[in-house]
Amino acid sequence: MEVSLIGAPIDAGQRRAGCIMGPMAYRVAGLGAAIAELGHGVEDRGDLGPDAVQGAHCANPVVHDLDLVLGWTQALRRAVGAELALGRMPVILGGDHSLALGTVAGAAEHAASVGRPLFLLWLDAHSDFHTPLTTTSGNLHGTPVAWIAGREGFDAFGPFPAALPPERICLYGIRSVDPAEHAALLTHDIAINDMRVLDEHGIVAPLRAFLDRVRAAGGMLHVSLDVDFLDPSIAPAVGTTVPGGTTFREAHLVCELLHESRLVTSLDLVELNPFLDDRGMTAKLMVDLVGSLMGRKVFDRPTA
Ligand code: ARG
Ligand code: MN
Ligand code: MN
Ligand code: MN
Repeated sequence: MEVSLIGAPIDAGQRRAGCIMGPMAYRVAGLGAAIAELGHGVEDRGDLGPDAVQGAHCANPVVHDLDLVLGWTQALRRAVGAELALGRMPVILGGDHSLALGTVAGAAEHAASVGRPLFLLWLDAHSDFHTPLTTTSGNLHGTPVAWIAGREGFDAFGPFPAALPPERICLYGIRSVDPAEHAALLTHDIAINDMRVLDEHGIVAPLRAFLDRVRAAGGMLHVSLDVDFLDPSIAPAVGTTVPGGTTFREAHLVCELLHESRLVTSLDLVELNPFLDDRGMTAKLMVDLVGSLMGRKVFDRPTA
């Protein structure tokens, strides 16, 4: 695989300072070398910046930094589309989760241009299913899945390019959903693998079921990994910790299954806030997880 690292130091999608240091923390923790060690080609494209956008309007007064998030959305959409068009795998080093507005738009545009369906795996404590009109925090990092699913309320963004039907979206690890998101999710047929489901069925079966669907459809797969998917005890460096997250072993297993599937075509690493980290443990864990996703194993058994 040929991998392109794209730094996206965006923190405008939420209010706590620090995510802007995310891309550098991944580099310091050795992300590029960890991927190259596994035999992949790696190019670091450096950090991207937002397009200049001014005067965007939102009817909900709590929404903040709309221009900046729009500027990043445009820049990331182009960058991800361009890497995929070169046959490369973009890995986006965030930055808060609002960056997925751009990365998934770019992936969706590319998938449509080559006539393949795009699927989305959202590894997160949160459903991020607000629209700019329903968010009560005003933080746009809580909105990408709604735009991707084609919900209304995103006038400033325009329509999502080739909105994903609900059966192509899989939320995994969910344990914090606001009332307005909950109501909207009930009217969409999105696979919601919240912690209740994963506790009962285990971490493997629901993921396998989704990956089987991606494979059967000949799909491309974008994975968006939010640090708060992980339990705060192993991943403290995130502004929106929620107890009861995935364990070290569960998270590695998810990444190993993703590798074995050979289906992942683009990847976001989001919400790392190095200012909140404990001696780099979260950054290092994220790098290790990417290693598993890219093929590192303890023992290389032939897979079925
Ligand atoms: N639902 C909450 C909000 O809208 C939290 C969103 C957290 N999202 C995230 N990407 N960490 O503010
Ligand atoms: Mn701000
Ligand atoms: Mn998120
Ligand atoms: Mn989250």
